[in-house]
Order: sequence, then C-alpha cells, then structure tokens
Amino acid sequence: MSQQPSTASAASALPGHPFVAYRGAELQIEDVRLSQLAAEHGTPLFVYSKASMLAALAAYQRGFAGRQAQICYAMKANSSLGVLQVFAVAGCGFDIVSGGELERVLAAGGDAAKIIFSGVGKTRAEMRQALQAGIGCFNVESEAELDVLSQVAEALGLRAPVSIRVNPNVDPKTHPYISTGLKDNKFGVAHEDTLRIYQHAASLKGLQVVGIDCHIGSQITDATPYLDAMDRVLDLVASIEASGIALAHIDFGGGLGINYNNDTPPAADALWAQLLRKLDERGYGQKKLMIEPGRSLVGNAGVCVTEVLYVKPGEHKNFCIIDAAMNDLPRPAMYQAFHAIVPVLAESTATPSTPEARYDVVGPICESGDWIGRDRALSVKAGDQLAVLSTGAYCMSMSSNYNTRGRAVELLVDGAKVHVIRERESAADQMRLERLVTL
Ligand code: LLP
Repeated sequence: MSQQPSTASAASALPGHPFVAYRGAELQIEDVRLSQLAAEHGTPLFVYSKASMLAALAAYQRGFAGRQAQICYAMKANSSLGVLQVFAVAGCGFDIVSGGELERVLAAGGDAAKIIFSGVGKTRAEMRQALQAGIGCFNVESEAELDVLSQVAEALGLRAPVSIRVNPNVDPKTHPYISTGLKDNKFGVAHEDTLRIYQHAASLKGLQVVGIDCHIGSQITDATPYLDAMDRVLDLVASIEASGIALAHIDFGGGLGINYNNDTPPAADALWAQLLRKLDERGYGQKKLMIEPGRSLVGNAGVCVTEVLYVKPGEHKNFCIIDAAMNDLPRPAMYQAFHAIVPVLAESTATPSTPEARYDVVGPICESGDWIGRDRALSVKAGDQLAVLSTGAYCMSMSSNYNTRGRAVELLVDGAKVHVIRERESAADQMRLERLVTL
C-alpha cells in the first residue's frame, strides 16, 4: 500500500519531502498551493500532508509484513489531535509520556490497549489514570518506579503490564540532548543490573512482566547503533528467559532520523530488513515486536509557512526577519538544528528583481537565540512568504507562548482537501486560566 506522490509535480518534489513540490513557481503540499493557504489562514502556519504520514507509516508496515508487530507512534513528536487521528485510523498504537498525552490519544479515538507509557517520572496519579484506561504496557525506567507501580496497581486490584527499559550503552552518534542509550543518560536501567531488576519485577504482586524495551536516541541516521543495541538487548532476553521469566514482546523504541540537510538515514523498511535478519539469526524472529517511531512518521510531512516582515541589511550580516519565531520553531535555538528554508513562490516569478543575498533568518522574539536559519542564500523582500521545511516533528509540540505569541494555525492536507486541525491561538486564549487579583 505504498502511497505515490500526488499529481502535484512529483518530478520537482523537495528532497526528503515526497509530497511537497514546486508546480511551476508555486510550492504545493499534495494538491494545494501554500500561497493560497497563507492567504486564507494567515502566517505563521503549519501544514501537514496526510499522504506523507501514511507513506512513512507504510515503510514500517512493509518492513514488518508477515511479522507480529505493533507500531506505537511516539506522539511527543506531534500531539495535535488531527495528527493523532490519522494514526489511530491507520491502526497505530501510541507511545505516551504523560497523563495529558493519554487524554489526547483517547480524545482522538486511539485504542487504549495499544498504548505504551514511557518516561522516567510517571506520577502515581498518572499510573492510576493509565491503569484505569487499560493501557497495553508501562515501560518502566527504574527499580523505584517498579515498586510504586506495583503498589498503585495492587490498590486498584489490578496487575500492571510492564516492560523494563534497558540502557544498552551504545552511542547513537546524534546530538547529545537527544541521545538516550548511553550510561550517563537518565534513561532506563543499566545493562548489568537488568536481570536482577527483572527478577524483582517478577516477584511483585501488582505487576505482570510482558516485555523488554530500549530506545537509544533520536535523529539516528546510521543502522549500526540499532544493530549493536539489538545484540545487547537479545543477550538480556536470553538471560531473562533462562531465569524463568517469559517475555512476550521486544520494544526497540524509535529514533530513526529524517533528511533535514542532506542526511541519509536508512529507509524504515531497509533498516528493519537488517534488524529482522539479526532477530531471525538469533532465534527471536517469532517474538512480537513493538516500535515507537515519532519524527520519522511526521517530520517531513510538515512545513511552516511564514512571511518576511523586514529585510535588515547589516555591516557584517543581513537579517531576514520573519513572523515565525523560536516559540513556533524551537529546534534551532535548542539544538542548533537545521531546517531548510525555501520560497513559497519560486524566485523567477515571485521576486524577479530581488538580488540574492545571505541572511540570518530570525524571528521577532527578543532573544539573540531566536534564529531559524543562519547564513542562508535567499532572494527576499518584505511580504514574501517562505516555507520552513521538516517541521512536522518537535515544532508545534514544543511550541510555547513566549512573548505572548499565540500558537500558529495547523492544517491537515489530504489531496485537494484542507482541514483546520488547530485554530490560531488568541491572547484571550492564553489568558483564560489567569486571574487578576484585588491589590
Ligand atoms: N520513544 C522514547 C522513549 C523516546 O524518548 C522518544 C523520543 C521516542 C520514542 C521517539 O523518538 P523519534 O522516533 O521521534 O526520534 N525534541 C528533540 C527530539 C527529542 C526526542 C525525545 N524522545 C528534537 O527536536 O530533535
């Protein structure tokens, strides 16, 4: 069921973005012109391609054909209800990290039994909420959490299904803030303690051990760390099962990277062909597999459309000041991340006389850290629109109201159809929970 790029203009699709393409001078997402969406909905504006999400999902589904596998979308990447709905309807489960995320999945029509709950700091209240909803599995990250979860489940007369997140101590070779499987990271339990902690879990009355879990980091562009982590996890599976504790599933987490800037991550199906070969060789090919991909399902499905407010030439640097900022697009400020920035109307017709220059593309927020792209060659003038690419993941979900900026509109495009999935946030929306006091 692989999705073909729409009729938009497959030949000029942008690298890594099969459903974002120039048709003539006009940048389109699926069959819709971004300039038209900006005119109707204003900027900044997030636009997501449904076909792109489903194509990314299909790569995993192809990879797992004939296997027992459950794809749990790591919704922290983009937790907007309309996005969750796409994955719920496609049959996905969800990887959640808070009670709030659980409420979102249920509101979007997701199946509680296909939810896995990750994270190092689950509260008792969140554990109760998830147990009462009947989620599929808790990915437990410490021995102390096992004890608390067992108590909470026992008090409800339930047994919590658990897997323990193991830290395989492999280097995913990604940004230090998003690498999670190294010894010094706060995540998971140490490889050498795993067997003892499993035995402890198996002795607790409120728990039912069902699986093992690992997640080594994010924006991983090389198969090697995955293969190494799998070897280390399978060594643990062997010793845990030899001790008499059966594991029904193995969860390999998420982390597969996308193409932001000439990155060449393996395709999901190719990566899983390699991983499944290893599983088969080691005799675990029949185990149920779970995965928790986030970015690779939504990252390149989204673009952020923004308008150039001012062009400000400088002695050493030119600035292109846009109406999107670090509150909408926090990744450059947080991780020095690269997002490609392209014109919504290609230069030949849109700005024929605007000379190309190099710009730092920055937002209106009062911080020098509020930059979106550095040293970019652009032909721009005030009023032009730009598209910031690869903004489907970890943008809206990490957005803030800093400088009392409202969150942007979000649209879901499906062929020629456009659905508003989030309205623009007003100042009144932002002040709704605040109270003036008598002074
Ligand atoms: N599972 C667990 C336990 C995770 O912690 C994460 C991401 C995922 C799955 C999904 O990883 P993905 O497939 O999306 O790489 N804000 C950062 C990324 C933080 C990732 C946190 N954990 C960024 O913008 O690059």
